[in-house]
This record gives sequence, C-alpha cells and structure tokens, in this order.
Amino acid sequence: MQQSELDFIQSLRQSSHYIEQHRGKTCVLYLPGELMLENEPLLGLSKDITLLHSLGLKLVLAMGASPQIDQALQAHRLDWQTHRQCRITSIEMLPIFQQAIGEVRSRLEAVFCQSSGQQNKPVSLVSGNWVIAQPKGVIDGVDYQHTGQLRKINHSAIQACLQTEQIVLLTPLAYSLTGEVFNLNTLEQACEIAKLIHADKLMIFQPSALLDGLPPALNQTQLQQFNHEPNPTNPLLERLQSLSHGVKRIHLLDQSNPSSLLLELFTRDGSGTLIFSDRYHLIRQATIEDVGGILELISPLERSGVLVKRSRERLELEIHNFIVIERDQRILGCAALYADYPHAGELACLAVHSDYRGQELGEQLLNEIEQRAHRLQLEKLFLLTTHTHHWFIEHGFVLSNPEQLPPQKQQMYNYQRNSKVLIKPLLRS
Ligand SMILES: CC(C)(COP(=O)(O)OP(=O)(O)OC[C@H]1O[C@@H](n2cnc3c(N)ncnc32)[C@H](O)[C@@H]1OP(=O)(O)O)[C@@H](O)C(=O)NCCC(=O)NCCS
Repeated sequence: MQQSELDFIQSLRQSSHYIEQHRGKTCVLYLPGELMLENEPLLGLSKDITLLHSLGLKLVLAMGASPQIDQALQAHRLDWQTHRQCRITSIEMLPIFQQAIGEVRSRLEAVFCQSSGQQNKPVSLVSGNWVIAQPKGVIDGVDYQHTGQLRKINHSAIQACLQTEQIVLLTPLAYSLTGEVFNLNTLEQACEIAKLIHADKLMIFQPSALLDGLPPALNQTQLQQFNHEPNPTNPLLERLQSLSHGVKRIHLLDQSNPSSLLLELFTRDGSGTLIFSDRYHLIRQATIEDVGGILELISPLERSGVLVKRSRERLELEIHNFIVIERDQRILGCAALYADYPHAGELACLAVHSDYRGQELGEQLLNEIEQRAHRLQLEKLFLLTTHTHHWFIEHGFVLSNPEQLPPQKQQMYNYQRNSKVLIKPLLRS
C-alpha cells in the first residue's frame, strides 16, 4: 500500500471518533464580512459547512458585513462615526445597510446552492425575524441611533429550523417591537445566541494577526490573566472576556486558513485556540477500563527507567489508587496515591504524555492528589524518583533520605536504584 493510502486510512480512523462526537451538536459560526469578499474561498468554506451539516451538526451562521457596508457607504459618499469602536447608524444610512447586507446574504445563499447542488438533499439556508433588538441608546452623551443590541430571541423558532435540518442564517439586521430596523454587532450577536440556544460550540473566524501567539487552549481564568499581561493587549480577547461567559466552548479560527474549520473539529489538537468554560480535560478516578490507556502512557517511561515497571495484573489490583487526566477519551496523564502508611501517603507513577507536557497537566494531577491526601487527613506526601526531583522541589517537596520514609517503605527501599526521596508536608486547613 502506498504512503498516501496509509495516511488517508489513518486520518479517516482518527476523525471517525470526532464525527460521532459532533453528530447532533449545535454549533454557531461567526462569519465576518471579510470571508464573503471573494468567491473561491467562500465556496470552499460553504463546502466545509455543507459537510458538517451532512455529518449531523446543527448549524447557525451569524454573518457580518462590515467591509461591504464600508464600501457601500463610501460609494454613497457618506461618512460614519464610531464611538467605543462601534459604528453609529443614522436613519439615512439604513437603506444602504439593508442593501449591502441583502447582497451579502444573497451571495451566501447562491454559494450554498452551488456547494450542495450535487447532493441528493441540497442544504436549505433560512433566515427570519427571530432576533428582537432595542436601541443601544445614548452612551457618554453619544446617541447610537439605529445601532441596536439584542433584546430577545425567538429560540424556539430557531430550534424548529435546526430540528428540520435547515441551516439558520442570522444577519446584522434585527427589528424592535415597535417595528424599527436596527444594525447589530454580529460578533456580539453570535455570542448571545450561542448562550441563548445553549450551543455546544461557537466558532469565530478572525484575522491571523489577532490569533498569533495564542495558546491552543485557554480557560476563563487564563483568558483574564492574558488580558492583564503588560504586553500589547489583544482587542479580540478583551471583547471575548465580557461576551463569552456562559458559552461552553469558543474556537478561534484563522480566517485565512481554508482548512481551519475541519482541522479544528476533526483533529485532536485542532488548529486554533479553544476558550472553554466547561472542563476541557477531565481529571477523574481511574477505572479498570483505563488500565490499557495507562499502560500505553507509562510503558515508554518504564522502558527508559524513569518509572518502576508495573505489570498489568498489579495495575489492575491497584487501579483504585490512580487518577487519570482524559481528553476526548484518551488518557493524557496519570498519578497514584498509596495511602497505606500511618499519616503519610506515597505519590507514585505521575506521568504526562510527552506530546502534552508543559501545559500544567502534571501540576493539576499533583494538586488533585494533594486534595485527596487532605481529605484522608494525611500529614505528608512522599515519593521516590530517579529523574524528576527538581520538578518536585519546584512544587514544594523537600529532598530527604530513606531514613525519613515510613518504616514499611524503608524496608522495601532499593539501594541499588538509589532513588531520591522527597517529602512534602501537607498544610492543615
Ligand atoms: C514531570 C511531569 C509529570 C511534568 O508534567 P507537565 O504536565 O509537563 O508539568 P507542568 O506543565 O506542570 O510543568 C512543566 C515544567 O516542568 C519542567 N520539567 C519537566 N520535567 C522536569 C524534570 N525532570 N526536572 C525539572 N523540571 C522538569 C518543564 O521543563 C516545564 O518547565 P517550564 O516551566 O520551564 O516550561 C512530566 O514531565 C512527566 O511525565 N515526566 C516523566 C515521568 C516522571 O518523571 N514522573 C515523575 C516520577 S513519579
């Protein structure tokens, strides 16, 4: 078999797990107007969205149209003002907005016809008057006029469209209960809608310049810390900090990478940055089903002498002492606590898969073991290590000697292996 065939089979096997995982999930996609400027990339994107739809994802598209609106206003020689980075929409601008947004919408509808035209069941893209707006009002003495904000949303109508396998399209235009037309910021709208319909994911396309240097994953606390660093602030992250509460997972994707959407959804590490408020990795008690995954993780470390060899039988017997860190049903790390000694517990077999080191997973496992030790009212943790004593010293352990070990453990100490002994007193709460 050729390498390209092997690669194909390998990636199909890898992605099949994700196909199953995403089926039936609701996903809001924020498509900035820049994505709708050129036909070729737009067609590629619509094919990928059509593929997601055919794999059973329920999709809501929130389309922006800023560059198209800029062009239309310039063509009409109309200047516009902004306040706090938000455009003020005057009454005479409204027909131009409606026309520009209508054109973008029609372009999207056309391209979806093209991308799903070969299928038995072409994709149907629907939009409606589901978003109720209210005026943004007067801020710092500045009247935003027809720039609005989301007031409420008819989510049962949206859910009904999703249930009948239609793709929902939201535009920047929304209507008030008094029948007025408002221009809404679509990024804000996408975040609000993801919250209100309890979407599983919000995918946000952005220019690569705003994504450069971001880590693959951030939780809400890290997002806050990122915004407080002294380096130049990232306006996207600042906005997301206030907008993203209540959205489970936000994926930031590079709008110039034509593969970013599929890579993000169907590969383990994705292509962009994930901001999560649910737990991305799960730390949990290990079960007998995890024995295979743990052995796979620790075998290379046993072979290189970093960890002491454990047989499958021993691991099965001792599995109740283990915790694991899991992502997408794969064991990325493990650790064990042996609380078999008076007032002391042994930390053992702490390991993180080599591809995932340096993301503080080791620290999270250690913290979890310490919490367990606290609950068992242990006074100290000890461990034996041949390679990793510096890491433990940096995490509050003190270099000690075999005589300080509990007597039972001293008897088993292997002087030939000559492991370093480390002890950490546990603070009483
Ligand atoms: C030790 C280990 C669990 C840390 O996991 P991790 O998820 O990478 O840990 P963290 O992200 O919390 O910490 C990473 C930091 O520890 C440092 N580090 C990793 N191994 C180290 C070692 N042996 N000595 C000193 N520092 C070490 C890394 O360089 C990194 O430092 P940085 O802050 O400069 O980036 C992981 O390296 C591992 O599995 N090692 C092999 C198994 C092992 O030695 N287990 C301990 C025996 S019980």
